[in-house]
Amino acid sequence: NLRSVVRGVGGYLPDRIVTNEDLTATVDTSDEWIVARTGIRERRIVADGELTSHMAIEAAKRALEHAQIDAEDIDLIVLATSTPDQTFPATAVTVQAELGITEGAAFDVQAVCSGFVFALATADNYLKGGQFKRALVIGAEAFSRILDWEDRSTCVLFGDGAGALVIEAQKPNGALLERGVLATTLRSDGRYRDKLYVDGGPSSTGTVGHLRMDGPEVFRHAVTKISDVILETLQKAELTPADIDWFVPHQANKRILDGAARRLGLERERLVMTVDKHANTSAASIPLALMTACTDGRIKEGDLVLLEAMGGGFTWGALLIRW
Ligand code: ACO
Repeated sequence: NLRSVVRGVGGYLPDRIVTNEDLTATVDTSDEWIVARTGIRERRIVADGELTSHMAIEAAKRALEHAQIDAEDIDLIVLATSTPDQTFPATAVTVQAELGITEGAAFDVQAVCSGFVFALATADNYLKGGQFKRALVIGAEAFSRILDWEDRSTCVLFGDGAGALVIEAQKPNGALLERGVLATTLRSDGRYRDKLYVDGGPSSTGTVGHLRMDGPEVFRHAVTKISDVILETLQKAELTPADIDWFVPHQANKRILDGAARRLGLERERLVMTVDKHANTSAASIPLALMTACTDGRIKEGDLVLLEAMGGGFTWGALLIRW
């Protein structure tokens, strides 16, 4: 009966800020349209030669420092990304090598925008099962590399970045509010795989391809799928929306997040929102939002934190943590 307890959190954003106004130089769009439809005001974009692994390593180092844990004490790295440095090896092994770790296991998980929830649920199971002791769970993305910069309906929505959590297997200590991951729910439905996809890959075109999305169709499914999976997860933990201290969803779009919060009856102040500054960083958005809300003092030890995401596949899921 081990539990996965959060020890540290860290994030990294590239230096370069691209505002909505900047985008009007290359596509027919406006700050008003983007803010009204998405809540996004600016995003970070990687520099030439800056890779997903570089961002992941920096986020991991900051999370380890926050946890006051040495890299050599990590025996599992699960990295969520849809924009790996290479087709293979996994970006996780580059992170492992750069951190000087030679033991344990490191691998990537690919569930697009739900990647971080899938990665954290995976690591949680290994820790609870006693197979590994301390894990780095990372979400890192360079979506700017797979965007069609001439398609205004997608290129305004995404940004780059990375975030990481350090979690540790601990025995329950009998406290009234035991810390750790309390419940998880993961879902996929491949019938929707053509609603949000990349039009290339090793076995099909031999190229990397570009992101394509049926935005209104994704939007149509998002709020109901997200709400269902959240309620299922709360039920497993015998909790209700009223128990949630912080709602930290995948940051795709302000309207989706407001809609989900409203459906759950959550107060606006409980919702952690970073989409205005980061845009949609896919698998990196949740750990970046966690980093933001921990750094500014909102999330504190003992708080009940609800994570949720939906993305290409479709994939979706939710996870409850007593911080
Ligand atoms: N600037 C100005 N106009 C634009 C832009 C732009 N950047 N992009 C599209 N338009 C135009 C369209 O061409 C269209 O014009 P038309 O009416 O003359 O044909 C008009 O705006 C409306 O387009 P819609 O796509 O219907 O706009 P909608 O209100 O649905 O908003 C959006 C689009 C923001 C993509 C919305 O559908 C959405 O948020 N969908 C969810 C998608 C999402 O967040 N995906 C992220 C990945 S999945 C995930 O993480 C959950």
